[in-house]
Amino acid sequence: MLTKISRLALKKKKNSKIVCLTAYSKNIAEQIDNYADLVLVGDSLGSVLYNFDTTRKVNLSMMIEHSKSVRKGVKKSLLIVDMPFNSYKNKSQALKNCKKVMKETKCDGIKLEGGRKITEIVKHLVKFKIPVIGHIGITPQSVRGKFRYKGKTDIEKKNLLKDSKSLEEAGVFAIVLECIEKKVSQEITESVNVPTIGIGSSNFCDGQILVTDDLLGLTDNNIKFVKKYANLKNNIRNAVKKFKLDVKSGSYPSAKYSY
Ligand code: KIV
Repeated sequence: MLTKISRLALKKKKNSKIVCLTAYSKNIAEQIDNYADLVLVGDSLGSVLYNFDTTRKVNLSMMIEHSKSVRKGVKKSLLIVDMPFNSYKNKSQALKNCKKVMKETKCDGIKLEGGRKITEIVKHLVKFKIPVIGHIGITPQSVRGKFRYKGKTDIEKKNLLKDSKSLEEAGVFAIVLECIEKKVSQEITESVNVPTIGIGSSNFCDGQILVTDDLLGLTDNNIKFVKKYANLKNNIRNAVKKFKLDVKSGSYPSAKYSY
């Protein structure tokens, strides 16, 4: 029987796009699970939920608690947890923390940011049977200041290609490409055998991921690659306004809602 991870590889072979989304809680995870191949508990929760100015402020216990909640809503998809900043500085620390995350959250694998700099760590984790996804291009844990898309210059392009190759050789089972120029994303996707998951990196990637809160219109992000598929902020405001009116007028709770 195919494992959930080998199903992703098969999708790349068959040219069938891979659908990925983030979740930080059970309620959202339950809604996504039937439609996504992969659900990521991203450290983007730092900015989306906690209003942090950087994902560097997210710690391991935050990731574990949110992932436990998401785990309750994910039955079918592959569940991946982002390892936060400073939790994989060297091989032994990375292994200890990844084992803790896998054990406590019962996730299917973890994601690390970085290319050649982290390949020794990736090899070590894979040796100990931890399934790993890589993440290159814009890597928010190492960005200070403005975000700028990658792959504009020849040197950036060469480095991205080298990073993706070395991650593949180290044993990752997929690579997130964040904000990489489209021709470079295409070249990376064609040169590695593992699936590439794009975010702001064109439709040449084998799959796509978006932050669910962005696509639902719950955030104020005006990032170029974010397509808003709903305006839940409006829906929430309207519902809350109606509740307020009902409470003020005394029409809530009516007999139907009273014991
Ligand atoms: O933290 C996150 O949500 C991510 C995805 C957007 C790829 O890393």
